Amino acid sequence: MKQPGGMQGAAAGLGEREFREVRELARRTFGLDLKPGKEALVHARLARRVQELGLGSIAEYIEAVKADRTGLELERLINALATNHTSFLREPQHFALLRERILPELAPRASFWIWSAGCSTGEEPYSILFTAAERLGARLGAMRLLATDISTRALEKAQAAIYPAERLQGLPPGWPQKYFQRGTGRWEGSVRVKPEWRARVDFRRLNLMEDFSFLPRMAVIFCRNVMIYFDKATQERLVRRFEDRLEPGGWLLIGHSEGLMGVRHGLEYVMPAVYRKPAA
Ligand SMILES: C[S@@+](CC[C@H](N)C(=O)[O-])C[C@H]1O[C@@H](n2cnc3c(N)ncnc32)[C@H](O)[C@@H]1O
Repeated sequence: MKQPGGMQGAAAGLGEREFREVRELARRTFGLDLKPGKEALVHARLARRVQELGLGSIAEYIEAVKADRTGLELERLINALATNHTSFLREPQHFALLRERILPELAPRASFWIWSAGCSTGEEPYSILFTAAERLGARLGAMRLLATDISTRALEKAQAAIYPAERLQGLPPGWPQKYFQRGTGRWEGSVRVKPEWRARVDFRRLNLMEDFSFLPRMAVIFCRNVMIYFDKATQERLVRRFEDRLEPGGWLLIGHSEGLMGVRHGLEYVMPAVYRKPAA
């Protein structure tokens, strides 16, 4: 059956050579390790963009990405390939640790930084913020919260902070009223983080493959469900750079399905998905 926009060519357009090229581009520019077997996913994600641009094939699309000096099409490619899946209080053990151990330790300090690296659409940094607000009360102002992602599309959503109301299911009692406003009229069924809370998160675009040694030393780095897409060598380089950005005694929290097996680093293992830089 003929599909609109010359899709016949694109549908048959992800050969071995194209997959290798996309794989190499993704690995070089943002660390993504597209394993063989991901062809169907890559194909589905890119075919849509080929159609939007009215191109004839994925091979043509790859050429267009390479030729685009603005880098915008490369960013779209990244947006199409990376998954932004996330949720409030995802992996709740980390938030229990934050509440019961990390924040009480940090509470007496005049200031400290927490970084959500790969923050996607914002649920992770807002969960950190609300947990800290509950625990620190009037001392919340000591916490600086940085949230970064490579995807500008995810960051726009994070800053807008509008979510379907059902995403709040499972949050502690009182949180929805305290931290969110309910949409009305056209926004019925949506909720939005209240502006005074949105203003407390510093959202920035940052590709973790690029230099971040200019960032301040962090008390806690959340980098969860991001490294899962990177190969071991890339993970190791990144963990070492995180280590450099942690203050002595600082914490690195990674996704529970990630693990740093086979990755050489100087951090102490605390519990699954929790590491700590040795105190000075
Ligand atoms: C699955 S989401 C995880 C979100 C959140 N940390 C969580 O655990 O719920 C992965 C995020 O990592 C981001 N990402 C992937 N590669 C990246 C890179 N090289 N630099 C920065 N962010 C990246 C993606 O854009 C995506 O938003």
